Amino acid sequence: MSVLGFGRGRRKKTIGIIGCGAIGSEIAMAVDNGDIGVELLGFNDLNRGNYHLLAAKLKNIHKLEFFESIEELVKKCDLVIECASKDAVKEVFEQAILRKKDVMILSVGGVLENMGLFEEAKKKRINIYIPSGAVIGVDGLEAAKFKGLQKVTLITKKPPAAFRGNEYLIKNNINIDEIKVETILFDGNAAEAVKVFPANVNVAATLSIAGVGPQKTHVKIVADPLVTRNTHEIIVEGEFGRFKVITENLPSPNNPKTSYLTALSSIVTLKNIVDPLHIGT
Ligand SMILES: NC(=O)c1ccc[n+]([C@@H]2O[C@H](COP(=O)([O-])OP(=O)(O)OC[C@H]3O[C@@H](n4cnc5c(N)ncnc54)[C@H](O)[C@@H]3O)[C@@H](O)[C@H]2O)c1
Repeated sequence: MSVLGFGRGRRKKTIGIIGCGAIGSEIAMAVDNGDIGVELLGFNDLNRGNYHLLAAKLKNIHKLEFFESIEELVKKCDLVIECASKDAVKEVFEQAILRKKDVMILSVGGVLENMGLFEEAKKKRINIYIPSGAVIGVDGLEAAKFKGLQKVTLITKKPPAAFRGNEYLIKNNINIDEIKVETILFDGNAAEAVKVFPANVNVAATLSIAGVGPQKTHVKIVADPLVTRNTHEIIVEGEFGRFKVITENLPSPNNPKTSYLTALSSIVTLKNIVDPLHIGT
C-alpha cells in the first residue's frame, strides 16, 4: 500500500464520506474518537436525513459540511470515501480523475461496471484503495499474484433466508423455503455471479480485481440451513502453493445486510494510509 505525502509535520489529510449508512457511520465514529489521524470535512448522501442522524452521533467533530453533490465533496477533500452504492462509483471516478484526488471504494461491484474509468484512474496515478471488506485472504492473494496464480475460488454460504427475493431464484422456480439441505444455487464465474446475485457482488468483485479477473474467478453460491453466519471460503492456488481461508461474518450493528468486518476493514485501510506502521501486504 502506498503512503501519500502527508507525513509528520504536515497538515492532516482531509476526507469526505459518500454514504451515511452502516459503513460510513463506523468510519466517521472512528475518526470522531480520535482513532485515525485524518480530518473529516463532511458527507454526501442521497438522503439528507441519514446525514443528520449520523452527525448527531459525533461528539468531538463540530464543524461538518453536508455536500450537496459528489462534485462538491471531491473538490474539497484529499481523499474521498465511497460507501454508498455501486451507482455512485462512476461519478466518484470521473470527479477524482478530473481533480486528481484519491478514492477509497467500498461498492466494488461498481468498479467492475466501470473498468474503463478504473484503468484511466490508475494511469493518471490516482490512489485507489479497495479494502478487503467482508473477507480475509486478499493480502495473500495479492502476494501470490506476483509470481502467478492458477486458480481462485470463492464459496459463499448463507442461510436460505438470506436469498429471499432474489430474482434469479424466482425466475428458476427455486423456493428458498423448501431448501432443507445444503444446496448449490450458483456455480460459475464472478462476472456471471455479480449479475445474478447482486448481494454478493462486492466480495466477488474484490477477489476478481486482486486476482485473476471476473471471467476466471470461480464462484459457488450455496444456501445452507445449518449456517447461521454469512461464510466466505477462499481457495487460492499458485506458484507459492495453496491456501484456504474461511471468514464467518457477524452482521454490522447498523445494517444486518453488511458484515461488520467490512466497516472494520475500511477503518484500518484508512489508518494504514496515514499511520507510519504497515503490517501485511
Ligand atoms: N466491499 C465489501 O466487502 C462490502 C461489504 C458490504 C457492503 N459493501 C457496500 O458498501 C456500500 C455501503 O454499505 P452500507 O452497509 O454502509 O449501506 P447502507 O445501506 O447502510 O448505507 C448506504 C448509504 O448511502 C446512501 N446512498 C445510496 N446511494 C447513494 C448515492 N448514489 N449517492 C449518495 N448516497 C447514496 C444511502 O442513502 C445510505 O445512507 C454498499 O454499496 C454495499 O454494497 C461492500
